[in-house]
Amino acid sequence: MNLRLPFLLFLFFQALPGLHLAAASNTAYPSVLDTGATDCSLSDGSLTPIRREVYDNGRIIDISHRLTTDMPAWESDQGLGQFLWLPKSMKNGSLANNSEMKLPAHTGTHVDAPGHVFDHYFDAGFDVDTLDLEVLNGPGLLVDVPRDKNITAEVMKSLNIPKGVRRVLFRTLNTDRRLMWKREFDTSYVGFMKDGAKWLVENTDIKLVGIDYLSVAAFDDLIPSHLEFLRGRETILVEGLKLDGVQPGLYSIHCLPLRLLGAEGSPIRCILIK
Ligand SMILES: *[C@@H]1O[C@H](CO)[C@@H](O)[C@H](O)[C@H]1NC(C)=O
Ligand SMILES: *[C@@H]1O[C@H](CO)[C@@H](O)[C@H](O)[C@H]1NC(C)=O
Ligand SMILES: *[C@@H]1O[C@H](CO)[C@@H](O)[C@H](O)[C@H]1NC(C)=O
Repeated sequence: MNLRLPFLLFLFFQALPGLHLAAASNTAYPSVLDTGATDCSLSDGSLTPIRREVYDNGRIIDISHRLTTDMPAWESDQGLGQFLWLPKSMKNGSLANNSEMKLPAHTGTHVDAPGHVFDHYFDAGFDVDTLDLEVLNGPGLLVDVPRDKNITAEVMKSLNIPKGVRRVLFRTLNTDRRLMWKREFDTSYVGFMKDGAKWLVENTDIKLVGIDYLSVAAFDDLIPSHLEFLRGRETILVEGLKLDGVQPGLYSIHCLPLRLLGAEGSPIRCILIK
């Protein structure tokens, strides 16, 4: 979730060969719908990087969304928009290409820290750098939830997730509707209602909650659900996951946020290993 907090992320990095095309021209950016090998040939047509969703014959599955100008952004009809620039380029005389990036901390596949919805936690420094990498990495379940409801206490009960399960990625109607592939933000996404979040915290051992749109909380219960999850500072929320085409079941989940001091959110890279 992104409350349009003013925190913006500025990073400088050496552009990868495929990335400068995005910076040089928005229209040249590869379509987010291209999931196979995308043709990003350079001018001479001989170099074509491979873009993958899975690695090692499917053993490693990337469940992070590629950052693109067309991906959805919180409460925007326009999508993320330009987030990469190339202030130093070899084309205009620099020794190397160096891109600059600017984007809301809660963009794409991202993590929420307790400071996101509790101001005293924010002031005390409960930022993404304090999140427990043990919670973010380990065995967990990918489960499908009923497609006709938001995630209520009743739905949580019906899923019968065994005690001892500490990490669960919830796949919802959002994946079927391909909401993360649509530019327009859609408030009708599926997420946790307050009673569902409360039930999970009180009745399960789940500490990592993942979901397939920009917020774990249904739009109608946006703040109340986040409060239930983050009050105890034990539950970590990962949002905007790419769960398309993945078999439900047990995986080794691996998620790594950036170490952004003072930030209540961060883009995150998440993979599943079979
Ligand atoms: C270099 O060129 C890029 C476009 O390729 C432009 O955005 C940038 O401002 C230029 N930088 C300088 C220092 O001229
Ligand atoms: C970036 O560097 C490559 C060489 O590595 C060069 O061919 C390309 O033109 C540069 N891109 C821009 C936009 O200047
Ligand atoms: C989930 O809640 C949203 C409002 O937050 C609503 O628009 C949507 O229709 C609900 N989805 C389902 C499947 O009930």
